[in-house]
Amino acid sequence: MRTLEEDMQTLAGFTAGGPGVTRLAWSPELRAAYDWLAGRCRELGMEAEVDAAGNLLARWEAGSGPAVLMGSHIDTVPQGGRFDGALGVMGGLHAIRLLREWGVRPRRPVWLVAFMDEENTRFNTALFGSRSFCGEDVGGLGGRRDADGVTLTDAMAAWGRDPERHGEARRIDAVGQYLELHVEQGPRLEASGTDVGVVTSIVGLVGYRVRVIGRTNHAGTTPMPLRRDALAGAARMVLAVRDEARRREDATANVGVITVAPGSSNVIPGRCELSIDLRAPSSQGVRELDEGCLAALAAIAEEEGLGLELEETYRVAPAPMSGELVEAIERAAGLEGASAARMPSGAGHDAMVLAAHVPAGMLFVPSRGGVSHSPDEHSSPEHCELGARVMARAVAGLVS
Ligand code: HGY
Ligand code: MN
Ligand code: MN
Repeated sequence: MRTLEEDMQTLAGFTAGGPGVTRLAWSPELRAAYDWLAGRCRELGMEAEVDAAGNLLARWEAGSGPAVLMGSHIDTVPQGGRFDGALGVMGGLHAIRLLREWGVRPRRPVWLVAFMDEENTRFNTALFGSRSFCGEDVGGLGGRRDADGVTLTDAMAAWGRDPERHGEARRIDAVGQYLELHVEQGPRLEASGTDVGVVTSIVGLVGYRVRVIGRTNHAGTTPMPLRRDALAGAARMVLAVRDEARRREDATANVGVITVAPGSSNVIPGRCELSIDLRAPSSQGVRELDEGCLAALAAIAEEEGLGLELEETYRVAPAPMSGELVEAIERAAGLEGASAARMPSGAGHDAMVLAAHVPAGMLFVPSRGGVSHSPDEHSSPEHCELGARVMARAVAGLVS
């Protein structure tokens, strides 16, 4: 039988280069990985296709009734690790191998999916695949551009897809439950020596693209009181959103992208663009953080004499996981002799989209040093295997 570790290593080879793994949404590397993965699924007798939203969907059409869907994503952040998302898909495939080896005859279909563009990296189109799969409207995004100026429309055309036809990917009505295996991406499981985290809820997220507009002028001839420096204002904004998050329990704020124009040491920056990612575990927490940050940004723009334009790029509500699936995963962990602890997720996942439509459950395995979105991301082969086995036990319990 093929091993999960072998599959994880092979998948990591589909990358635009190192360090780590770079496999962005709608990229040639992702397409090549899909082709390989579809072959792996067909080896197990599954039908595999890439749908209208760029999701790779493989179906074990056993029995009848609503399917149990396992999945995650295999797109990555730039120079990311080889586990984030990948474990959920390859671990789901391994779970299907195990179910077959154990002689389980499902009374319902068992499906596996790799969702397109969970990571949001390339086009600011977070969760495009899972939202389309669930019948949510993600139209009107075709004009968004990546860092090289390529539009989503053109990137999808290279795959023979059209953003305005994403609705054809809707398959949620045929799904009964969704289960996602993932690496924790944080330090708690390792620190407490726990094998499996059973996710109770996923954090809420809000994203903005912010444009700060000042006045380009000569660096040496413009007296300091007369400058309208977009970067200096943006720098204050970066610190202000950090402080807003620090003031609130379990909230986070991150500025991960910043660009300065025109970009010369002797020119006052006239324009600055930054990304802002805000997260909190409750809707109230998200609202308070969001309002606090927007007020701080407006006040700084006013004080610095700068223009301010905000575009909301994503907003996903906090998502509780299904209580029944929490218990199903705990029972499955018990069958494998794994220690388990309930925990919230501070990372976003496709499960938060699915959870608004069907019962959804997630399990985590430990991340070494709590590191993720980095080439140093690592989970041991033993923990990955255990996660897949717990997943297989949970699915067996649902379909037997
Ligand atoms: O951003 C996130 O939390 C996820 O890793 N996409
Ligand atoms: Mn992920
Ligand atoms: Mn990620």
